[in-house]
Amino acid sequence: MARPHIAVIVGSNRRASINRKLAQALVKLGADKFDATFLRIDDLPMFNQDLEANLPAEVVRFKTELTNADGILIVTPEHDRSIPAVLKNAIDWGARPYGKNCWAGKPAFITGTSGGAIGTALAQQHLRSIMLSLGTILQGGDVYVTFKPNLVDDDGNISDDSTRKFLQGFMNQFATLVTRLAPQPARTA
Ligand SMILES: Cc1cc2nc3c(=O)[nH]c(=O)nc-3n(C[C@H](O)[C@H](O)[C@H](O)COP(=O)(O)O)c2cc1C
Repeated sequence: MARPHIAVIVGSNRRASINRKLAQALVKLGADKFDATFLRIDDLPMFNQDLEANLPAEVVRFKTELTNADGILIVTPEHDRSIPAVLKNAIDWGARPYGKNCWAGKPAFITGTSGGAIGTALAQQHLRSIMLSLGTILQGGDVYVTFKPNLVDDDGNISDDSTRKFLQGFMNQFATLVTRLAPQPARTA
């Protein structure tokens, strides 16, 4: 089959986001197994059901990108022990209007980083609950990454050997999951 295509969503709109740095390093770990596109979520309007009848262009773009993806990688900060508002807003747009839920049936891998030892654990727990309710197929396992200034080196690689191997294992599993679930070309015989 063709290489699977992963949509990457970073749950931060901060220019120097540490979660974006981690997401870029994770994509490098999977670069021999899948293609990846970072989806923009910071330009999506605040969700308003009144807009559903005539979806804004940014929302149409986002939903099309989700629909075309074979899998979704979400790398998110934790805000006040839950997920950031910018990410929840994107999730709500992806799920609506009723009957146009783009998340259902998509394999997804969730992780995130903060300076705390179990930073993002509660955000990830909330995110799992939300994504399961929307019908995504979540990869198992918990990946809480404590961010240190040298976690990602100047070349965008995970600098610590054991952390890199740990994350590589999850990226390999994710690639396998996405490949298994990706639509197969029709058989001719
Ligand atoms: C509004 C707000 C709430 C936060 N709440 C948490 C939290 O609950 N847990 C945590 O580990 N860090 C928390 N932080 C600190 C973030 O981990 C830190 O700002 C991190 O850099 C955010 O990720 P980003 O750089 O990818 O945006 C919070 C930061 C902000 C701005």
